[in-house]
Amino acid sequence: MSSNRTLMVLPGDGVGPEVVNETLRVVDWLAKNKNINFNIKEGLVGGASFDKFGTPLSDETLADTMDADAVLFGAVGGPKYDGVEFEKRPENGLLRLRKEMDLFANLRPAMVFPALVDASSLKPEIISGLDILILRELTGGIYFAEPRGIDEINAEQKKGYDTNLYTTPEIERIGRVAFDMARARNGKVTSVEKANVMMSGVLWREVMINLHKKEGAGIDINHMYADNCAMQLVRDPNQFDVIVTDNLFGDILSDCAAMLTGSLGMLPSASLGSVDKNTGKRYAMYEPVHGSAPDIAGKGLANPLAELLSLSMLFRYSFDMKEEADLIDKAVSKALDAGPRTPDIMAKGREKVGTTGMMDLVIHKLEELTN
Ligand code: IPM
Ligand code: MG
Repeated sequence: MSSNRTLMVLPGDGVGPEVVNETLRVVDWLAKNKNINFNIKEGLVGGASFDKFGTPLSDETLADTMDADAVLFGAVGGPKYDGVEFEKRPENGLLRLRKEMDLFANLRPAMVFPALVDASSLKPEIISGLDILILRELTGGIYFAEPRGIDEINAEQKKGYDTNLYTTPEIERIGRVAFDMARARNGKVTSVEKANVMMSGVLWREVMINLHKKEGAGIDINHMYADNCAMQLVRDPNQFDVIVTDNLFGDILSDCAAMLTGSLGMLPSASLGSVDKNTGKRYAMYEPVHGSAPDIAGKGLANPLAELLSLSMLFRYSFDMKEEADLIDKAVSKALDAGPRTPDIMAKGREKVGTTGMMDLVIHKLEELTN
């Protein structure tokens, strides 16, 4: 099956290029073994782009990315760029991509693979069977709202400030995605804010309650303050199905949820826009939750599975390739059942492997599953 779908690949910084290159071996494998082909385009983002073009995202790369059918992203950032002026920092490349493609819905599933129950810092009985989805609003709130800045108060003192602002439509559209996701799962939505302290939280809760009345048939909804949610995530994470929350709380709670599963190195994510009414196109970008991990970058130690599982999400949500997504998920699960492990998910009695070794194992499982 040849295809004219374009896959834009943005490896970025740190461990990004390492895990992306290993993941592309699975794309090659699909071409060779199942005759599934894409047009692959690669671009620079983050610090890698800053080093070459003086900006974390060039207009050309942005244009290529917007033209593509889906984007596979690695990671951005690193200590090398600590001194760079704020607008040109690597993270701004990522934030600009999210904003320009209006990727407002960020899906961060946290699942515990049976073989990794012991890799979590929590007790097995607490995280066993865990399967929750953090749905993070990604293009609004304190990450983007104005005013923001650092201003002088007087010769000695300054003030730094940000704004957490949400409008009714912004809350409604992420709420709708939460309901849709919950319908395909266990029908439960927990909406998280701080309506006890923040006005944006008061509105968030009001809009969610109204939306639930109008469009939430069959959905069991509850409302929780963000601090309580953080506590509940480590106390009894299995109480949740879909957690929907704003940009900042979603950033924090998803890191917490990720660690329940044993390692940040396992968690994929999808960032989706809305469907264009005229073209039917939906912008989408897929990236691991783990970030650039500068401490292990360039050493070949990074776990490539979060990136590979992000590719699986890309196949599922953007390319309607459920069969191949299932195949990848199964191969990952089987690879974890036996054999070597990367350092982040190391367990007693297992051989330690690096990024390439881990992917060798997955590809071996792909062969086994298809022969
Ligand atoms: C994430 C990251 C980003 C964020 C950074 C790299 C800008 O932490 O995707 O969770 O804060 O959104
Ligand atoms: Mg984060």
